[in-house]
Amino acid sequence: MCGIFAYIGQQNAYDVLIKGLKRLEYRGYDSAGIALLNKGLNLYKTKGKVTDLEDLMKDKNKEGNVGIAHTRWATHGEPNDANAHPHYSLSKKLAIIHNGIIENYASLREELVKRGFVFRSDTDTEVLIHLIEDIQISEKVDLVEAVQIALNEVIGAYAIVILNKDNPNELIAAKKGSPLVVGLGKDEYFFASDATPIVEYTQNVVYLEEEEIAIVNIKEGLKIKTTKNKDKTPYVQKLEMSLQALEKGGYEHFMLKEIYEQPRSIRDSMRGRLNIEGGIVSLGGIIDYEQKFLSANRIIIIACGTSWHAALVGEYLFEDLARIPVEVEYASEFIYRNPVIYENDVVIAISQSGETADTLAAIELAKSKGATIIGICNVVGSSIARAVHAGSYTHAGPEIGVASTKAFTAQVTILTLMALMIAQKKGTISKSRFYQIINELNVIPAKVEKTLKASEKVKAIAEIFQDSRNFLYLGRGYNFPVALEGALKLKEISYIHAEGYPAAEMKHGPIALIDEQMPIVVVATKKGTYEKIISNIQEIKARKGIIIAIITEGDKRVKDIADYIIEIPDTDEVLTPLVATIPLQLLSYYVAVMRGCNVDQPRNLAKSVTVE
Ligand code: M6R
Repeated sequence: MCGIFAYIGQQNAYDVLIKGLKRLEYRGYDSAGIALLNKGLNLYKTKGKVTDLEDLMKDKNKEGNVGIAHTRWATHGEPNDANAHPHYSLSKKLAIIHNGIIENYASLREELVKRGFVFRSDTDTEVLIHLIEDIQISEKVDLVEAVQIALNEVIGAYAIVILNKDNPNELIAAKKGSPLVVGLGKDEYFFASDATPIVEYTQNVVYLEEEEIAIVNIKEGLKIKTTKNKDKTPYVQKLEMSLQALEKGGYEHFMLKEIYEQPRSIRDSMRGRLNIEGGIVSLGGIIDYEQKFLSANRIIIIACGTSWHAALVGEYLFEDLARIPVEVEYASEFIYRNPVIYENDVVIAISQSGETADTLAAIELAKSKGATIIGICNVVGSSIARAVHAGSYTHAGPEIGVASTKAFTAQVTILTLMALMIAQKKGTISKSRFYQIINELNVIPAKVEKTLKASEKVKAIAEIFQDSRNFLYLGRGYNFPVALEGALKLKEISYIHAEGYPAAEMKHGPIALIDEQMPIVVVATKKGTYEKIISNIQEIKARKGIIIAIITEGDKRVKDIADYIIEIPDTDEVLTPLVATIPLQLLSYYVAVMRGCNVDQPRNLAKSVTVE
């Protein structure tokens, strides 16, 4: 989603900003722009990519040590040059970049139009900068106070940075509902939607809290106030992100790199939490909340997209191992359907980015009803990580590809550890079964590594099916969420219609789709409902469907019926998603590459969806 980057310091602002915008590209966007303060406040913006902005800037004055820049993912108004950020105020003395949505923008705009304001775009953002300037002039207040007054009038979410022609030493930023990080360098400061463009300059950052305003003056440093004019002391944190993690490292795409990182990211997510010798699973972040799990009548897991698929695996794990009833909810539906939430419910919120607006809103709702909220996030210091009562980070490292891969397996790893920890404390798992699972969990990274070796085979299958128009993905039990995730990956990056289904449900409808053109990916590992899934495969074959089966190494029965097979190492049923997901990620990746799709930045998609 939209990316903010702003700079004030000693370096050439243009160079720093363009580099930063490129780091933010992974968030997804459809236009880009920049405002520089040199001989005046100059603003350049264009539909398209950052490279289009660079083309536009070729013959322009790129001098100056202060500027603001933005990548826009269209919400209000189509993606065109006019709607791209930054936006000028009426006098062109101020320029603003904004993430989020001003919900009452229409009424504010109407009011401003009546008073003679002329709009150059269809955006809610332009309304905000006009409003700020209007207040500044009509109420004769300084810019900070005008920002405070304006932000108290708007309803909605914002992360903003404002550049003021009359004050080249200063940048003013504010945040509510959308993330904003301030980077503190030596005689230089950065503002960004996330830490990725900052990390190469400084490790010292301040994450702005809700309704805080940051005023950075190159001579006076950083000051933080609230929109209600309360002074705050900046809380400086150290970034743990490495620059290397933000580079492709020799891979053609981030997605491929991230698929291949999974043996490490799963291991990192278990590190220090799984003690095989001692027979202990311990997630430090939730230890103080163990009792809440033990006395919970149910667990509700809220998430979106791929994280929702991980949540489904969590449902199987918690019910199976810890015998706690689980409900899995799409965060967006949960918020608006008046859900029943009890004080002794434990709500687990899963999010890679930690910034998903729907999930954040669902957390706030559950919190307001007194439930205990546990987070599973990948991005340290993210809004969701800060909104929950407690939680466990996945240690997948930065995920840049828009299609989530390593974050999914890391989330499933944490859910497995969580379910095991609670099951052990609750006494719902026998000692032998507990040891069986943890021993197997310990070798999962090696099994994922082995599965990745099937890549050439998967590529050959991708070659055959790259022009298919539809795909069906089937699985049962723990493999049902895997099928859903496989289908989501394919549609996201290759734009092929794909549906995931519980295999047994097929006969209740989707079977009508099957003909000799339809590839059906069946996750048919030799566990659980193996016999049943063989029957489902037979039903498909009887209707001439083409079977691509993910099977357990050495399994002859499915091999004999399927048209194509991909073998994966045998593992415990509860851990199957960690392995079976890998070939499906690879399949979608190769199909998308063969179709010439932009794998890392698929059309219309954003990495973190910060609007509802
Ligand atoms: O950052 P989150 O995990 O909260 O994001 C949730 C979804 O937006 C995300 O998983 C999305 O579905 C991805 N594009 C999946 O690849």
